[in-house]
Amino acid sequence: SKKIAIAIDGPAAAGKSTVAKIVAEKLSYIYIDTGAMYRALTLKALNQNIDLHDERALVQLLLHTKIELQKNEKNQIVLLDGKDVTMDVRSQDVTNNVSYVAKLPAIREELVHRQQLLASHRGVVMDGRDIGTRVLPDAEVKIYLIATVEERATRRHEENKRRGIPSSMEQLKKDIEERDRIDSEREASPLVKADNAIEVDTTAMSINEVAQFILDAASKHL
Ligand code: C5P
Repeated sequence: SKKIAIAIDGPAAAGKSTVAKIVAEKLSYIYIDTGAMYRALTLKALNQNIDLHDERALVQLLLHTKIELQKNEKNQIVLLDGKDVTMDVRSQDVTNNVSYVAKLPAIREELVHRQQLLASHRGVVMDGRDIGTRVLPDAEVKIYLIATVEERATRRHEENKRRGIPSSMEQLKKDIEERDRIDSEREASPLVKADNAIEVDTTAMSINEVAQFILDAASKHL
């Protein structure tokens, strides 16, 4: 059957990657986590003590940086210049700084270009903030996932507890709200629902219900 592109956007911790992976698996499509690319560059810049507001320095860094997203058995792996940084890109430090890097237009231009190449054969589920508006404006299916900040922080909190990571609800809420604010207020392709995206409020939905909703939307195009 026909291969399509599925774009999943929305604010932080709305469950995008969790459902995107399920949808990709069901359709035997590739899953592309674009946030991981911004995170990988942020990690490298932090490690090299580069000023995160220095756009020229960061672009130079990015042009000498290889970011690979691989699937190994059931897990998504992030390789930064060949090194596995899957866990490192999820650190607090990266999470709380990535939006400063992601607001720089020249950084976005280069990463959007790389993302478009990764999706050039279709058969992709891609998640991020600007997939439906900027990266794949002609995606057949565009989903905009939302949930209350309360619910998003709770989910992240539970996940942290399961993984044995220290976690505070109040801090999580603050961090999520701050990241959404920077992502929504930036000049260059801000976080916004595409006109033709389907908004899905997942606050009271299970992961499988959300995945099934997206699969149903996709099935009309297959
Ligand atoms: O999706 P994730 O939370 O991993 O994304 C981390 C950050 O990367 C976002 O908060 C945002 O600043 C940036 N991002 C972006 N555009 C995308 C994906 C992520 O600006 N397509």
